[in-house]
Amino acid sequence: MGARAPLSREIACAAQAIAALAGGRSLQPAIEAAISASGEAGEALDPASRAAIRDIAYHACRQLGLARELARLLNQRPPPLPLAALQWVALAQLLEPLRAEPVIVDQAVAAARLVPGASAAAGFLNATLRRFLRERDALLAAARRKDEARWNYPHWWIAQLRAEQPQAWRAILEAGNAPPPMSLRVNRRRIGVDDYLAQLAAAGRGARRIGPQAVLLDEPCAVDALPGWREGLVTVQDAGAQLAAPLLDPQPGERVLDACAAPGGKTTHLLELADCRITALDLGEPRLRLVRENLARLGFDRAGGARDPGDAGDPSRPDGPHEAPRVLAGDARHPADWWDGEPFDRILLDAPCTASGIVRRHPDIRWLRRRSDPATLSAQQSEILAALWLLLRPGGKLLFATCSVFRAEGVSVVDHFLDLRRDARRLKLSWRFDEGAAEPVSQLLPVATATRNHDGFFYALLEKRP
Ligand SMILES: C[S@@+](CC[C@H](N)C(=O)[O-])C[C@H]1O[C@@H](n2cnc3c(N)ncnc32)[C@H](O)[C@@H]1O
Repeated sequence: MGARAPLSREIACAAQAIAALAGGRSLQPAIEAAISASGEAGEALDPASRAAIRDIAYHACRQLGLARELARLLNQRPPPLPLAALQWVALAQLLEPLRAEPVIVDQAVAAARLVPGASAAAGFLNATLRRFLRERDALLAAARRKDEARWNYPHWWIAQLRAEQPQAWRAILEAGNAPPPMSLRVNRRRIGVDDYLAQLAAAGRGARRIGPQAVLLDEPCAVDALPGWREGLVTVQDAGAQLAAPLLDPQPGERVLDACAAPGGKTTHLLELADCRITALDLGEPRLRLVRENLARLGFDRAGGARDPGDAGDPSRPDGPHEAPRVLAGDARHPADWWDGEPFDRILLDAPCTASGIVRRHPDIRWLRRRSDPATLSAQQSEILAALWLLLRPGGKLLFATCSVFRAEGVSVVDHFLDLRRDARRLKLSWRFDEGAAEPVSQLLPVATATRNHDGFFYALLEKRP
């Protein structure tokens, strides 16, 4: 592997990924594909260049609304996609404070020669980028009159949130544009939160507690750099996602279904809370492989309760029977294909959704979703909920969860369900944030303050009347 690649090659690679995003591909795989293709065409890229490409592409994704509107103002007619993407990436770089602007322009122009379909356009790129630098303030002011450029979200997304959340819509959009923090869930079967914070401090990592098991790192890092990660002391999980398992409140020995389980973040949390008999269901491989890996890393992959490293397990654990989790491939809408007929005491339905509540972690989601997606996914969520309800024993509880901030994927699904099912009632949920008084939990909006930092989620607990 050689030295770091020139900036022009990094920009060209990031632009290919952004062109793929504009064509409907998720950003992370698009970046990895562009990096591999660049390696095949020339010398393999070194780690510093690969990291730089990811940064450039993610930054362009976060600024895509503004960059596209600026390009529209600068261009007489729209250029073809590879060139357009290169122009957006270069404009996004020029929007970053403290950038060496002439270097970026020169390198973007050089990148045009590396991007298939853009090589004849070096002059166009040079002229438009230099005009942007000359007329920057006026162009920015004009662009920001459009809401897509002002907020960096699609127009339909902004309009939907504005209509549903007249007070909070700006704060929700801003939270989704903030850098994502790294939160951990401490495995309380292995170590207390204070002891784990001491291990982090000894490793030179600043962190603070923000929930019963939640720890917020001062700086994100690779999981391998976390003390005890391989040994299952902690799991990376947003603090808002850490409400799901305690809200469902599994009890030892109960039969619990985690219906949309992959990658297993909540399956393992349920098992950390109680020795329950868990079935983890998802559509199929390779998603289920992630569930198995997480179960194994945390020591839940066999009977006898959570094991310590090197321990054979103990079937006579004092907190009740514990059988190895069942990991099943199946469609939650069609239980006849996978259910053994024994009712469940508790069900977690962490349903597929637009993921509009976790956009700070996945900034590409907003550009990939379509206006019709919340309604389409809402219908799917209702279908799964209706099918799983029949698997719950009378007196049993089902937690319906989505990581969305759209009403269609939260309260609308639940209200519609309660209208149809006389044997269902919604229970009140509450949570103590910030060590303060208990607050009602339903639609959790994303927030990032010193003591409270989580993504957006919806939670509703439904009980089947006995
Ligand atoms: C929000 S993710 C679940 C995250 C997971 N509960 C966790 O905490 O790690 C939604 C999951 O639902 C799965 N899924 C989507 N449609 C499904 C269906 N009809 N039946 C079962 N699983 C489904 C997806 O494959 C995806 O893994």
